[in-house]
Amino acid sequence: MKTILITGGAGFIGCHVVKLFVEKYPDYTIINLDALTYAGNLENLCAIENAKNYKFIKGDICDRNLIKALFEKHHIDAVIHLAAESHVDRSITNPFDFAHTNIMGTLTLLNQAKESWKNDYSGKLFYHISTDEVFGSLGNEGYFLEDTPYDPKSPYSASKASSDHFVRAYENTYGLPAIITNCSNNYGPNQFPEKLIPLFINNIKNNKALPVYGEGLNVRDWLYVEDHARAIDVVFHKGTIGDTYNIGGFNEWKNIELIKVICKVMDTKLGREEGTSEKLITYVKDRAGHDMRYAIDSTKLKENLGWEPSLQFEEGIEKTINWYLDNEAWLNSIVTGDYKDYYEKQYVSQ
Ligand code: NAD
Ligand code: DAU
Repeated sequence: MKTILITGGAGFIGCHVVKLFVEKYPDYTIINLDALTYAGNLENLCAIENAKNYKFIKGDICDRNLIKALFEKHHIDAVIHLAAESHVDRSITNPFDFAHTNIMGTLTLLNQAKESWKNDYSGKLFYHISTDEVFGSLGNEGYFLEDTPYDPKSPYSASKASSDHFVRAYENTYGLPAIITNCSNNYGPNQFPEKLIPLFINNIKNNKALPVYGEGLNVRDWLYVEDHARAIDVVFHKGTIGDTYNIGGFNEWKNIELIKVICKVMDTKLGREEGTSEKLITYVKDRAGHDMRYAIDSTKLKENLGWEPSLQFEEGIEKTINWYLDNEAWLNSIVTGDYKDYYEKQYVSQ
């Protein structure tokens, strides 16, 4: 019997983690704390919203009084912390929001966990979900390992690196039991269409330009989101306190090559002549400070805890595209209002 606080559970990765834990562990009580920013969407959680072992609380991780009350009322045993501002482009135009949520929000949770658990850390865990971007950018060779020095280069990754450092500082200074995982790029259902894959699927569907930053030669390592959720389950239950684990897909793609695969699959799905969607590719101004290559070595997680990705990319991208095409209402409900303003500022009026 455990009560787990999952933060950011209405977002992309968070909703898959919440669904997995609620369905797989009926003896656990899962409390999902989410501020429902533009990126949070309760429709992501319809499947489990009435489950007996699930409770949603709308609130901000930076709200110290709320976090204190929540720990006191629900006797939280563990935190799986995903809530964050997560989009690199938004961090370039709005770095303060990222510092506030990602650093101050994490600190608020850490401090309350320390205060609430300080007399007895047994059975307690603060599990912090981080990113491979904290390691900076690779050249053509090599991989990020768990002991690769931090070298964040965007306001987003600097804020995530800072939050990771606070987790380690709380562990070292106060003995707080903590684990950090650093994951590569996720893709799959429920991702907000500001990120490359859902943005491009939506644009192809609507015959809109596909804005490729720079020459499209940057490399990312893609992991299907349900595989990430499974890794989080494994690390939560079997990970060593104080340890850190890299999570990745061993699945590197140059952006332009990935985009061409999406175009090809979309042509087939939409019954368009092959090559139609590729004509939408438009090279635009590069992202400022654009990291060239990320590649994760997740051997430690495989050897120590037995996790590895289950899906091949071809299968994952097909499932992903099917999901966005089958869930038109979900997509259409997002790409209105604020999204249109964001799109205009990010892509049209540059
Ligand atoms: P997301 O932007 O889709 O979701 C973030 C969620 O956090 C949203 O539901 C939002 O409402 C909530 N949130 C934001 N600010 C909040 C606040 N102040 N209080 C409470 N809730 C708040 O993000 P995601 O892509 O699902 O990423 C989740 C986590 O995983 C983040 O910590 C991110 O850094 C990390 N991560 C993401 C990826 C990726 O490829 N998406 C890869 C590695 C790590
Ligand atoms: O590596 C993990 C990280 O992956 C996570 O920590 C972040 O939360 C997540 O957003 C993601 O960051 P990226 O910047 O790699 O993802 P994004 O989907 O924004 O971009 C992927 C690549 O595609 C990147 O090289 C930039 C490029 N791109 C992106 C957009 C939105 C384009 O060329 N055009 C675009 O319009």
